[in-house]
Amino acid sequence: MWQKKIFLFFVIISTVSLLLHQGRHLNWNMKSFHFGCSAVTRGLREKVTTVVFLKTHKTASSTMQNLLFRFAERHNLTVALPVTICGHQFCYPRTFSTHFVHPHTLPPQILTNHMRFNKVEVRRLMPNNSTYITIMREPSSMFESLFVYYTQYCQSFKRVTNASLEAFLNNPWHYYKAEEVDSMYARNTLTFDLGGDKDRPATDVAYAKSFTAQVEKTFLLVMISEYFDESLILLRHLLNWDLEDVVYFKLNMRTENSKQSLNPQLSSKIRAWNSVDAYLFDHFNASLWRQLTTLGLDCVAKENFNTQNLSYVPSPCAIGDRINIERIYNSSMSDPLETNRFTV
Ligand SMILES: *[C@@H]1O[C@H](CO)[C@@H](O)[C@H](O)[C@H]1NC(C)=O
Ligand SMILES: *[C@@H]1O[C@H](CO)[C@@H](O)[C@H](O)[C@H]1NC(C)=O
Ligand SMILES: *[C@@H]1O[C@H](CO)[C@@H](O)[C@H](O)[C@H]1NC(C)=O
Ligand SMILES: *[C@@H]1O[C@H](CO)[C@@H](O)[C@H](O)[C@H]1NC(C)=O
Ligand SMILES: *[C@@H]1O[C@H](CO)[C@@H](O)[C@H](O)[C@H]1NC(C)=O
Ligand SMILES: *[C@@H]1O[C@H](CO)[C@@H](O)[C@H](O)[C@H]1NC(C)=O
Ligand SMILES: *[C@@H]1O[C@H](CO)[C@@H](O)[C@H](O)[C@H]1NC(C)=O
Repeated sequence: MWQKKIFLFFVIISTVSLLLHQGRHLNWNMKSFHFGCSAVTRGLREKVTTVVFLKTHKTASSTMQNLLFRFAERHNLTVALPVTICGHQFCYPRTFSTHFVHPHTLPPQILTNHMRFNKVEVRRLMPNNSTYITIMREPSSMFESLFVYYTQYCQSFKRVTNASLEAFLNNPWHYYKAEEVDSMYARNTLTFDLGGDKDRPATDVAYAKSFTAQVEKTFLLVMISEYFDESLILLRHLLNWDLEDVVYFKLNMRTENSKQSLNPQLSSKIRAWNSVDAYLFDHFNASLWRQLTTLGLDCVAKENFNTQNLSYVPSPCAIGDRINIERIYNSSMSDPLETNRFTV
């Protein structure tokens, strides 16, 4: 019972935060796929129901988290949730430990809240045959998004005059202090989230390479935000899930005119500053497209573009009728960094 209540609380926090925080532009089109690939029907194989999703920053990972919450709810699965002292996350940016998991959510089948990944501890927590998934985004747009989002909160960014991304990139060492507690938002954030060393120099290609190999060994699927729909098609096939399982709320993220368009020079400075992230992204973007090619690009196109909109008016109050949505929303808003954790 407790388990159910705590879980509902998180579902609501996640949904309401997405709903309210992402602003007035929220477009509640439910998007669903028409899966036309007869070659890859689920047949008699069972759905995979033990999933570790490493939620990364500014990568549309909240949409995935919400999808997993709803999957868990429909399939009566236990979701690992953090102990109260950790907040909404598993005590990020501390490295994950099984001590961060609320005892009422043991043993879990789904793990999706933010953490700094620690393979040994996650394996201790989750069933041995769990499937590991994560998501990455092109590093220059990811960094621009981090910069805009954490301008007021991350020490490295706060030092920059007029919040100028150009100024930061022209002399990052002038602003960045690796030892500060929030420095992971300012360099190789993705690498940090995955448990890697964000401060390896760009010249240390061997590190980027071996870290990438390590990630590849652990994660069956690395989704790419830019190809979210295509990534979901792969996910569905790998996990033998049904169509309903990958229906998601298509969120309008930041409006286009609030995004700074990045010129090629700026973009390459970002990649140089976040060299490990850039290495990871390039590798896993290529590998996503290899997997899609294997599935058959015709088939993918058919699944991807035969989409249909189901207009959908959400009723968050129906999720937990006795829970005061406004109060939960207020408490999730009290710490701006907390809030960000639910946004893309
Ligand atoms: C994982 O192991 C459990 C228990 O042995 C089994 O029921 C389940 O089908 C397995 N899942 C996968 C994906 O192999
Ligand atoms: C969900 O799981 C709980 C505990 O394992 C069980 O008591 C309950 O009957 C299940 N409910 C459904 C709808 O399967
Ligand atoms: C996972 O596998 C290890 C050995 O590989 C075994 O000792 C452990 O009991 C297994 N855990 C579960 C939950 O099956
Ligand atoms: C910061 O912005 C102000 C007002 O737009 C401008 O006058 C000033 O020169 C800017 N400072 C720098 C260092 O760019
Ligand atoms: C991802 O890889 C594909 C296939 O190689 C390529 O066409 C595309 O430009 C890449 N996307 C990004 C954002 O780099
Ligand atoms: C999908 O929704 C958008 C926006 O609501 C609408 O413009 C479009 O016509 C819809 N497409 C279909 C196939 O219904
Ligand atoms: C939520 O916050 C708003 C603005 O600060 C306040 O007016 C409202 O009373 C709060 N609601 C609850 C239930 O605390």
